[in-house]
Amino acid sequence: MKRYETYGPVSWMKAFGVNIVAAAGGDATQVVLTNKDKTFSQQGWTYFIGPFFRRGLMLLDFEEHMFHRRLMQQAFTRPRITGYLEHVASVAAEGVKAWETGTFHVYPRMKQLTLDIAGAVFMASALGNEKDALNKAFVATVRAGTSMIRFAVPGGRWNAGLQGRKLLEDFFRRNVPAKRASDSNDLFSGLCHAQAEDGEAFSDDDVVNHMIFLMMAAHDTSTITTTAAAYYLGKHPEWQDRVRAECAAAGPGPLDIDALEGLRDLELVIKESLRLVAPVPSLARKTVRETEILGHYVPANTMIALGPWVNQMLPEYWSNPAHFDPERFSEERREDKAHRYAWMPFGGGAHKCIGMHFGMLEVKTLLHEMLTRYKWSVPQDYKVRWDSTALPAPSDGLPVSLQPL
Ligand code: HEM
Repeated sequence: MKRYETYGPVSWMKAFGVNIVAAAGGDATQVVLTNKDKTFSQQGWTYFIGPFFRRGLMLLDFEEHMFHRRLMQQAFTRPRITGYLEHVASVAAEGVKAWETGTFHVYPRMKQLTLDIAGAVFMASALGNEKDALNKAFVATVRAGTSMIRFAVPGGRWNAGLQGRKLLEDFFRRNVPAKRASDSNDLFSGLCHAQAEDGEAFSDDDVVNHMIFLMMAAHDTSTITTTAAAYYLGKHPEWQDRVRAECAAAGPGPLDIDALEGLRDLELVIKESLRLVAPVPSLARKTVRETEILGHYVPANTMIALGPWVNQMLPEYWSNPAHFDPERFSEERREDKAHRYAWMPFGGGAHKCIGMHFGMLEVKTLLHEMLTRYKWSVPQDYKVRWDSTALPAPSDGLPVSLQPL
């Protein structure tokens, strides 16, 4: 934000050992995400997470990306999502029910729970007794992406990530034949059975690569969103009471997709939490040729960083931007319409989050479980600090006082 205020929407910066053009504000964002001449590639992400998430959907470009995205879309149809939600509901209910009351650290517990959910949604029963090893491998790949030492040192984060990737590859590859042979209501099956009109389907390697990326894309983002919402509800008891009443009226879980979509007040809270804490605060791109952004020259092969979090806090789009005010998303106000890219927690353009709808429903399921079992609060003067070394996480784990209803 300081950079934007000082230098405007387009400026050079140095971060992670590379020169980067920062592009923020609606108009600069629009130039990059509209990507009219296919100038901005996803290779900006490769620097950070390429070795661990290679050939994941977000790392593919242009025609190849379009082809894979269309196929993957078939794993995100309404009937498929309905099937995944059954897994979400049962794991969320079991997990939340078992929470201990008193001082409770939301973030680490939510992270564990969303990882368990991802295991069920993505692989259903395929995990078996390999669950713990797989969870560990998965956590290692995610952590490695933000490692400061970016080569393999024994005992280092990067190395652990590479080993984790190998274990995951091996697991998924071994299980592809069984998943191809029968169809069940998990995402792994969804990818194995996705087929284009001309009969083209994902290869075994594609399925493996997409699964590993999807696990990452789905897990941290929903953890952060749910944690941020829990924080703001802890700070604003009037909103907590309001959404609890709405959740109670919807009945006890499991809620189906229609009931979840009907939780309108909860949706306002989630949207506002996604605005105040963008789970993916920055989007990476790289120019494939020289270009310009709002009249600023940008050479070929330049890393670009977009700033969703900046856009979501700009006073030209939002009234009293730092203030928690879910009603700003209400039909009467719709502040998010101030600019196409004023609110963009799910990105935009060709790579806009494919799991956006499902992610929202997962977060709603988790909050519905929490709200119908507990009430929670944080001290009046408490202000969470978001550690933004990697994706934002509360530096103290977000302690709340959790009480049964
Ligand atoms: C609330 C949670 C979520 C948030 C805030 C979020 C955010 C994002 C963002 C900002 C992007 C765009 C990245 C870019 O343009 O470079 C993205 C892409 C993506 N997300 Fe999500 N995501 C969430 C949940 C999910 C879930 C649950 C899944 C899958 C089950 C998922 C799968 C993906 C995939 C595959 C892409 C790449 C799309 C493409 O390149 O075409 N996300 N997400």
